[in-house]
Amino acid sequence: MTSLRVLTGITTTGTPHLGNYVGAIRPAVAASLKSGTESFYFLADYHALIKCEDPLRIQRSTLEIAASWLAAGLDPQRVFFYRQSDIPEIPELTWLLACVTGKGLLNRAHAYKASVDKNTAAGTEPDTDVTAGLFMYPVLMAADILMFKSHKIPVGRDQIQHIEMARDMASSFNHLYGEHFVLPEAAIEESVATLPGLDGRKMSKSYDNTIPLFAPREQLRRLIAGIVTDSRAPGEPKDTEGSALFQLYQAFASAEETSALRQAYADGIAWGDAKQVLFERIDREVAPMRARYEALVADPAGMETLLLAGAAKARQLATPFMAELRQAVGLRRLNAVAASGTPATAGRSASPPAFKQYREKDGQFYFKLVDAKGRLLLQSAGFASPRDAGKAIARLQDEGETALAALAGQLAPVEGVLPEDLSMALQALKDAGNA
Ligand code: TRP
Repeated sequence: MTSLRVLTGITTTGTPHLGNYVGAIRPAVAASLKSGTESFYFLADYHALIKCEDPLRIQRSTLEIAASWLAAGLDPQRVFFYRQSDIPEIPELTWLLACVTGKGLLNRAHAYKASVDKNTAAGTEPDTDVTAGLFMYPVLMAADILMFKSHKIPVGRDQIQHIEMARDMASSFNHLYGEHFVLPEAAIEESVATLPGLDGRKMSKSYDNTIPLFAPREQLRRLIAGIVTDSRAPGEPKDTEGSALFQLYQAFASAEETSALRQAYADGIAWGDAKQVLFERIDREVAPMRARYEALVADPAGMETLLLAGAAKARQLATPFMAELRQAVGLRRLNAVAASGTPATAGRSASPPAFKQYREKDGQFYFKLVDAKGRLLLQSAGFASPRDAGKAIARLQDEGETALAALAGQLAPVEGVLPEDLSMALQALKDAGNA
């Protein structure tokens, strides 16, 4: 039985904070200990280049993130733990995937669209300050994921679209060149808390309200003392609801400890005392890891060796797989041509586009038209019954382009598809039907 492969990347632009620990590191380390799972955790330093132009920061962050994960208990013997830029097969695969990815698909990526919207709102050119790196980000991420045939990708909600795009790229490639890739799925951990930061908003670098995971003990105490609270005096009962302090405590404490603090709130514990309780509780969990972290950070050469060993282990999978993919697309030794005969997929790219019917969660019936490369050409609105959807499809097949106008209300436009591409596709369908 093949085991479940779980993979996630961490962009190397910052210093891990308590929110990263509770939201990503701690659950990932726990998951890596489950049997029947193979875990891949990597330092996404190529991704870091997209948003950070400070070389020292990238280098430092790589060391700090690697040290944090190891200090938190990740066992590099048990998992695949590597630095993205040590795997040359990843940028190589990025290119192969770029060649089966519609530009229109990337136009729809949230991160890119957000930049375009910002520029449009500011009245500047849509692509001002948008690098090709940002635009290609989903392709690089798909290469990370598809390279290791990963099944589950634990990510935050903001990354779901990227996983869907990786699936799209995998299906396009598989369709053209045979079944090489596993289709990945996003795994969203509903039960994992998002931590509030010092000011009560979500703990995040962009709000500058974080508590570094391995802040020295005295700094941790000072930072916790600065968490916002309301102005209730000692002796006055306090609300746990909406209390950042309480939520932080809950993320570290047992159920019993949490209910004891809830009682203390009701009994009017002074904020200063509550902060002391929180500080001691967090420090109790973090202190042993902090000692390991400090030792790891103090030995960059040791870390370098460890990461290179991780890369060698990952490349035992990546190198043969990349060779298989090169072979599949035709990047072949010339003297091997005769041996492998006709490509298995010859003529496939000339196959006509196809309709796909499906039912959505809303209970309605939909169809879409995709070309041989898996690119979406036409998308229907919802139909009450599969029969209605089928009728619309039949009409498009028989009448081709002329049916478009008649069905206008039942079709949703697809961004990035040129009218001539659509009419060619419909013509090809009609021809196939008449043949
Ligand atoms: N883009 C992800 C983030 O910003 C990091 C990342 C890079 C990643 N490659 C990945 C996550 C592959 C999961 C799988 O959070």
